Amino acid sequence: MEDAGKKRGIVIKDDWPGYSLELFTYPEHYHHDIDSVYIPHGVVMDRTERLARYIRDDFADDNITVLCVLKGGYKFCADLMEFIKVLGRNSNKYLETRVEFIRLKSYLNDQSTEDLHIIGSRDLSFLRGKAIVDTGKTMKALLKHVGTFEPKMVKVAGLLVKRAANMDENLTDYVGFEIPNRFVVGYALDYNEYFRDLNHICVISKTGKQKYKV
Ligand code: HPA
Ligand code: MG
Repeated sequence: MEDAGKKRGIVIKDDWPGYSLELFTYPEHYHHDIDSVYIPHGVVMDRTERLARYIRDDFADDNITVLCVLKGGYKFCADLMEFIKVLGRNSNKYLETRVEFIRLKSYLNDQSTEDLHIIGSRDLSFLRGKAIVDTGKTMKALLKHVGTFEPKMVKVAGLLVKRAANMDENLTDYVGFEIPNRFVVGYALDYNEYFRDLNHICVISKTGKQKYKV
């Protein structure tokens, strides 16, 4: 049960329509661009707080280097780290946390592993923070690289994991929500760089898709 809570997270079923927009506030300029509030910001925060607890328990006395995958993971990463720190303050047991930022596309196309050397030069544990785990392909590639630095422990945290047919079930250690394989925006997740300023995780409308198409 405990493990299912970590590895599968809150399961959102295929037929979940989301909450009506009238029930929440959101930036005026997105009025016609979203269909529903899929996961309200408050629920995202509460779940992230729980993930922080799992992580605190698992890392115990190890310091953590968090590898934040930009750009979509920045809010999740920032909030998760904040919750981890609060837990430390409340228990008088501080974990030393460091954060490094990477952009996956540029990183994986880059021949140089300079960024990773900075991280790897310290014998700390790693925690990867990513907002969405889609097929897990890029995640797998990155984990392989991280592994070459022989970290004491590597864990993957993903706020959203999509149910995809070819998904590698065991890639993400801390799952916020398991969601249907559909496109969502908000909480730093974008559609062509738009919607990052939306607090809630939302489903984009036909109008929105058309309007921000490139
Ligand atoms: N939303 C935003 N960015 C993404 C998504 C999504 O659903 N899936 C992969 N990248
Ligand atoms: Mg994007």
